[in-house]
Amino acid sequence: MDNPPVNALSWHVRQGLFDGMTKAVDDGAAAVVLICDGRTFIAGADISEFGGGAPDAAGLPAVQAAMEDAPVPVIAAIHGTALGGGLEVALCAHYRVSVASAKFGLPEVNLGLLPGAGGTQRLPRLTAAPKALEMMTSGRHIGTGEALGCGLVDEVVDGGADELRAAAIAFARRAVADQLPLAKVRDRDEKIAEARGDEQLFADFRASIARKTRGFLAPEYNVRCVEAAVNLPFDEGLKEERRLFTELMTGPQSGAQRYYFFAERAANKIPDIPKDTPLVDIARAGVLGAGTMGGGIAMNFANAGIPVTIVERDGEALDRGLAVVRKNYERSRSTTAEQVEERMGLITGSTDKNDFAGCDIVIEAVFEDMDLKKTIFRELDEICEPGAVLASNTSALDINEIASATRRPESVIGMHFFSPANVMKLLEVVRGDASSDTVVATAMAVGRQVGKVAVLVGVCHGFVGNRMLFQRRMEADQLVLEGATPAQVDRVLFDFGFPMGPFAMSDLAGLDIGWKAENSTGDSVRDLMNESGRKGQKNGRGYYTYDPDTRAATPDPEVEQMIKDFAIAKGHEQRDVTDQEVLERCLYSMVNEGAKILEEGIAIRGSDIDVVWVNGYGWPVYRGGPMYWADSIGLSGIVERVRHYGEQVGGRQWELSPLLAKLAAEDGNLHQFSN
Ligand code: 3HC
Ligand code: NAI
Repeated sequence: MDNPPVNALSWHVRQGLFDGMTKAVDDGAAAVVLICDGRTFIAGADISEFGGGAPDAAGLPAVQAAMEDAPVPVIAAIHGTALGGGLEVALCAHYRVSVASAKFGLPEVNLGLLPGAGGTQRLPRLTAAPKALEMMTSGRHIGTGEALGCGLVDEVVDGGADELRAAAIAFARRAVADQLPLAKVRDRDEKIAEARGDEQLFADFRASIARKTRGFLAPEYNVRCVEAAVNLPFDEGLKEERRLFTELMTGPQSGAQRYYFFAERAANKIPDIPKDTPLVDIARAGVLGAGTMGGGIAMNFANAGIPVTIVERDGEALDRGLAVVRKNYERSRSTTAEQVEERMGLITGSTDKNDFAGCDIVIEAVFEDMDLKKTIFRELDEICEPGAVLASNTSALDINEIASATRRPESVIGMHFFSPANVMKLLEVVRGDASSDTVVATAMAVGRQVGKVAVLVGVCHGFVGNRMLFQRRMEADQLVLEGATPAQVDRVLFDFGFPMGPFAMSDLAGLDIGWKAENSTGDSVRDLMNESGRKGQKNGRGYYTYDPDTRAATPDPEVEQMIKDFAIAKGHEQRDVTDQEVLERCLYSMVNEGAKILEEGIAIRGSDIDVVWVNGYGWPVYRGGPMYWADSIGLSGIVERVRHYGEQVGGRQWELSPLLAKLAAEDGNLHQFSN
């Protein structure tokens, strides 16, 4: 097979496989080896065909039957990743041989789907129900160690493509010579028999994933398919799989998640920067500041195997920062003691910025203070080699002004990581007016190299993510002054699919962050909260009260009354606010701001905004992102409500975006908008 880039099962490939199998058998071949050219074995169905429109061709079940029912041994030779439909095809070979680096998985759940070509029925027959449940609901790829253990592969070979081909052909010759049985996974029963009638197994598994999969349909449907595999004959299980697959495929969640798959990949493409733009080779990185962000950023480099120099202002701050990094590693269950030492060994601490001299990129993560940042960039300009990338992790400051402190503004760029920086996937790369193509392309590539989803944005206050978040925050604060409670606002957003609402989020971050008693005017709810000693989760009292043992949050009637009294004293009329109004005001204000961000060219595409919100702020991916979601409810309806709130509430956030108005009038959409 050869269908670059990932050997997806496009229509012409399915037809080719079917014809090839038929011809091999008709021509009297003694055995068949299915092997792929390029970087990987089949990585799945062709997702771009899912919307329909592909020409008629052999279906996957026909290809699979041609393999499974072939009168001669069929051997799948696997390198790269055998994923989704790819693994399902491999499961219809009689034997599987792979290279040691191969990975196997059924990641359909990440597209809001389930494996629809028999995978849900065949995988548990090899791995037993518990492992199949785990793999199918997480989409996790397993390595050859695990795959050998459960019989997913029969032989693992060292080496690359040539060795794989030779080993698979040798296996085929052996299968013929020794008359090995034409093993069909569908006929295996011993592993699933263990779980037959075991309702508790499934109840426990459902409970174990409930929190993580809240709101998603596909994980539950995957579980149902495994139940069917365990309890029904193969062909009936297959029918159940088909029924549930079709329901998911035609439903809104999978539509959104498939859109999102391509949105994330589109974000890598910068239209005005040629693909072959030379990159700065990053052999050593530097991070300035070992605080909350600096420590996490340094961990990202160490995790990717890149040596990193971290500089603090004094020994005490450095020791504190490095101790936090070590503790984070030690607490992580996925890092072994050996790996902790290996990664700590890649991090060099210093209190002398001159140690940045050999770094190919330096990321500044000191306090959010323009004068301080300018002084630092002036120093970096003196210290760093020409060509080194000079990046700032500022969350809102003007990158152009920071760049102006240097004699090489073309080397300066924003790299806005999110907290905790070693965990959060999003990276906003902030392009300054002078940032060179090489520096932009390098920052995007470095982001990917350290495991982030990088999105290119322009300079403005708060960039894309925080700028939209400010709107939501403002509306949330205003809503509680009009009569909603913090718990109501949070509940509406939680039910929408966010991991938590804005007030719970403030409690988590700490209400006192950036707040100073001497500057308090007592004019905002935040002042009020701080003046009454409420700091959030850290002292057990914030918008909610927190159980000291379980940290469970309970709405605090005292706070609600306090806010009410405050609002009345400030002249806000109190009324019942409906959940629908909470939703519209929190989210339509963001959609309107997103449209302004697009019309100002701060984001390249509508889909980039969706990528920012899904990765950085917990927007539920089964709703695609704020731009996709807005389109799904209809832009004219949103325009009408933005106008309504403009009259009722007023403020800059309700000034209708001309682009939003235009797209609504033209029946256009935001998620496909591109500058
Ligand atoms: N269909 C169509 N295009 C695909 C594709 C697929 N299954 N998988 C990847 N691509 C495209 C990407 O869009 C990208 O295109 P671009 O270069 O134009 O942006 C290109 O292939 C390379 O992909 P990545 O940038 O993601 O490359 P990586 O090397 O980082 O990752 C991968 C490779 C691990 C294979 C990753 O692409 C991936 O996870 N793909 C999706 C796998 C998947 O979900 N398979 C299941 C599909 S559903 C299915 O099989 C249904 C069946 O049960 C019936
Ligand atoms: P922090 O206060 O935790 O850490 C800042 C560190 O910089 C401190 O350890 C301090 O000692 C050190 N520092 C200050 N001046 C220095 C100097 N001249 N030389 C060397 N080290 C110096 O701050 P945090 O939260 O890590 O923020 C850093 C930057 O990251 C800020 O610009 C902030 O806006 C941005 N940011 C913060 C996020 C967050 O959630 N905390 C998220 C994204 C960006």
